[in-house]
Amino acid sequence: MGIDVLISEQRIKRRVRELAEEISSEYKHKDLLLLGILKGAFIFLADLVRALNIPSRCDFIKVRSYVERESSGKIEIDFFPAVEGEDVLLVEDIIDTGLTINRIKEEIRKSGAKSVRLCALLDKPERRKEEVSIDYLGFSIPNRFVVGYGLDYNERFRNLPYIGVIEDAGVKVR
Ligand code: XMP
Ligand code: MG
Repeated sequence: MGIDVLISEQRIKRRVRELAEEISSEYKHKDLLLLGILKGAFIFLADLVRALNIPSRCDFIKVRSYVERESSGKIEIDFFPAVEGEDVLLVEDIIDTGLTINRIKEEIRKSGAKSVRLCALLDKPERRKEEVSIDYLGFSIPNRFVVGYGLDYNERFRNLPYIGVIEDAGVKVR
């Protein structure tokens, strides 16, 4: 099983720095709480938080929504921290149908957060089923199943330093 590079390590690094600059300036006078969505966002969050130049705190949310390559359609929230009165920035690996993130946003608002914004590394707009407002976006990508930089295929490939596409039945990305 071969993997083609879709977004290189260098491009990711540059984009993460740009996003961190934007977030740092917009949250300068706030007390930012970054909420990474496990597991996919753990590497993106780790790089993003180290590139910020403002004080911040990190926590995580765990949901179950995806089995192998297809969305199960059912989303279960395993846990999320207290967010009452917080300026929350959700950090997600990829927005696909949009069902997962909208459900999480709802929960955060219901739990009394002061504000909720979204930072996503990747967006697959072709697959959208519900409109999603993405405040900070890394890259928009075609409708391919991607791995690496935190994203997995059956728990494999999260450690790749780039975003790649698994070669499948002769389909290549470039
Ligand atoms: P929805 O469809 O609710 O799902 O927006 C978002 C979640 O689905 C997972 N996802 C992927 N995971 N490669 C992955 O490793 C992909 O190409 C992919 N597309 C969606 C991901 O966990 C995300 O949180
Ligand atoms: Mg996954």
